Amino acid sequence: MADQSTHVYLTRKSVEAIVAANGEDRHGLKRPLGWASLMALGIGGIIGAGIFVLTGTAAAHYAGPGVMISFLLSGLACAFVGLCYAELASLIPVSGSTYTYTYATLGEIFAWIIGWDLVLEYGAGAATVAVGWAGYFADTLAGFGIHPPPALMTAYFADPAAHGGTLAPGLFNFPAAVVVLLLTAILTQGTRESSRFNNVIVTIKVCVVIAVIIFGAPHVNPANWSPLVPENTGEFGHFGWSGVVSGASVVFFAYIGFDAVSTAAQEAHTPQRDVPIGILGSLIICTVLYIAVAAVATGIVPYKELGVPDPIAVAMDHTGVAWLSWAVKLGALAGLTTAMLVLLFGQTRVFYAMAQDGLLPPVFAKLHPNWRTPAISQTLVGVLTAMIAGLLPIEILGKLVNIGTLAAFALVCGAVLHLRRSSPDLHRPFRAPGIPWLPVLGILSCLALMAFLPLLTWISLFGWTGIGLLVYFFYGSRHARR
Ligand code: ALA
Repeated sequence: MADQSTHVYLTRKSVEAIVAANGEDRHGLKRPLGWASLMALGIGGIIGAGIFVLTGTAAAHYAGPGVMISFLLSGLACAFVGLCYAELASLIPVSGSTYTYTYATLGEIFAWIIGWDLVLEYGAGAATVAVGWAGYFADTLAGFGIHPPPALMTAYFADPAAHGGTLAPGLFNFPAAVVVLLLTAILTQGTRESSRFNNVIVTIKVCVVIAVIIFGAPHVNPANWSPLVPENTGEFGHFGWSGVVSGASVVFFAYIGFDAVSTAAQEAHTPQRDVPIGILGSLIICTVLYIAVAAVATGIVPYKELGVPDPIAVAMDHTGVAWLSWAVKLGALAGLTTAMLVLLFGQTRVFYAMAQDGLLPPVFAKLHPNWRTPAISQTLVGVLTAMIAGLLPIEILGKLVNIGTLAAFALVCGAVLHLRRSSPDLHRPFRAPGIPWLPVLGILSCLALMAFLPLLTWISLFGWTGIGLLVYFFYGSRHARR
């Protein structure tokens, strides 16, 4: 046992006590989700701006057709982390994701830091996807000959120079903000309703992704895959094998969301069985789909032409099958919608757990009397996310999300290692294989992907964490229920 004021290392007994207490205390939430719904929740969160937008960016600027390998590398890193997540989620089946696991294993201050960094994953992640959604929305409107004023569709802080001067100066990205607010309204109504809405849209988007693979495959020209890894330009991270890993750190965004399943553990029917199936199942399905879509897109179009906001639609344009391009645009809109839904959901569940522990004001744990959802918290998160989505461009948001998430993932792996050593006899309904190598590989692969992100992103992570620590010392540590 360590210093009780900052670290609360939990023994087997106290972890079990937490699990039991959470089962009682947090019973306010309903438990309507089975493994299929959880897997849909995972796929809903995973497939989004990553595959529909960033595949093109990574292929055109970093990896060429080697983006297929980038997806494999990123997927592998997520599999290591996913297995660790599954162990912790089945052991501690309560709301709060990494935050809860870190609290139960490494103690309060680590939990706070990770909860604070998770805002980058869920809140900033939802804003990032909203900006991607707005890009496809503008494209779809343009297809109907509708061209709203660009200043009302572009972030205030978007840098026209970063887009080769093709971007008009922006005021506020209204479509991005409005879609966040609409989804927030749906989420406040109830988890079951949100889950049903999610299941329908997930089905549509998976069908569209499969259609891209099936109808796109006959149009692949294998010459476009040669060379699979284009020669490095002389600049580290620009093509060659360093480019493939840079591409992996970009497309990592495409996998974010599988962990959101764990944030719904408390609302799962049989968490010990359903949550591991939900996490790993959605991860495997998405990896296979991503590699296939990347193969089709880079096989149809020379990779240099894919650096556009709607690369998959552009690839489908090349097939000459007009309906496919439209289907992709609509599928992307649907896909990005569910990704936002899951991320907005996850953010409030992390806040819920933090507020229950006294680290955040009680309003974040307050449930609506009829809907049994944290409706006030959901609304606050929605309004703030909408503001961020309206003001910041995707290139700034995306990198912040990746680094915050990778840091959280590395801690999850560390927590599994720690708990296996500190409480080896705990009953683990799901045991991650290959201990201790699996979590070690998870940590190393997260750090490797982080190393390929720009210095400015690291500085932002430390700045954000610093602000978080101030909030912790002035509020959280004084109100914590220990
Ligand atoms: N994985 C999600 C996406 O690609 C966040 O949009």
